[in-house]
Amino acid sequence: MDINGKSTLVTGGASGLGLATARRLIDLGASVVIADLPSSQGKEVAASLGERARFVPADVTDIGEVENAVAEASLGSPLRALVHTAGRGGSVRLVNKDGSRGDGDLFATIVRTNLLGTFNVSSVAAASMAGNELIAGERGVMVWTASIAAFEGQIGQAGYAASKAGVAGLTICAARDLATKNIRVCTIAPGLMDTPMLAGLRDDVRQSLTSGVPHPARLGEPDEYAKLACSIIDNGYLNGETLRLDGANRMAPR
Ligand SMILES: NC(=O)c1ccc[n+]([C@@H]2O[C@H](COP(=O)([O-])OP(=O)(O)OC[C@H]3O[C@@H](n4cnc5c(N)ncnc54)[C@H](O)[C@@H]3O)[C@@H](O)[C@H]2O)c1
Repeated sequence: MDINGKSTLVTGGASGLGLATARRLIDLGASVVIADLPSSQGKEVAASLGERARFVPADVTDIGEVENAVAEASLGSPLRALVHTAGRGGSVRLVNKDGSRGDGDLFATIVRTNLLGTFNVSSVAAASMAGNELIAGERGVMVWTASIAAFEGQIGQAGYAASKAGVAGLTICAARDLATKNIRVCTIAPGLMDTPMLAGLRDDVRQSLTSGVPHPARLGEPDEYAKLACSIIDNGYLNGETLRLDGANRMAPR
């Protein structure tokens, strides 16, 4: 789909991968609604992106707020593309180092944000896109965000890995589900990307993480995610697939 002049929604667009994608979509001529937490920098970020960007505060776990964000994104012209990057981390083990059981409440909170959040945003966006006129055989496109943790989860990533594996598993299901509506769905599974999510890591930890990336041995740039997201939107034959964006990184067990 040629995104020039179309309405788009970027969840998590106030920071990191979402912000880079919002920036690239604006450059390609799209209008962008950034949906992010009220506590985020979404308002300032949207203002810095110019008049085709707007911020709508929304927590992806709140269906009413998601409905409002999708309605806002469909105001000027129909919503044609969703890039869903909103997500969170959090450390959960099944059994803690001291032998106590893992934190099921935190596990549920991470799954709620990353997996239920994906379902919430995509079901509301799909209901809106389903009513769009066909353009070159399609009504809309969705790009979701998993992680390489969906496939090689590390110790401490019980909630995160399970939630992202859920996103990857939902991808072909959603693509089949939405095929009759002429809506495509693909997922990007990033490796180690240079965003605020990794900013808390010590330099030596970053160094050790990037040394395990075969080529190029560095963190991924947020704009490399944005390029792939925009390429998925553009390429009408990409559907139902989870694409790794990780410099061939396959993290070994710790
Ligand atoms: N950075 C990495 O190395 C990496 C690797 C693999 C996957 N990912 C995934 O990429 C996505 C983007 O991560 P990032 O690195 O850009 O992180 P980030 O922290 O820079 O951005 C995440 C954004 O999501 C927003 N958000 C969090 N919970 C939300 C909620 N409930 N409702 C609405 N917005 C919410 C945050 O406010 C933030 O603006 C996440 O889904 C993350 O799991 C990141």
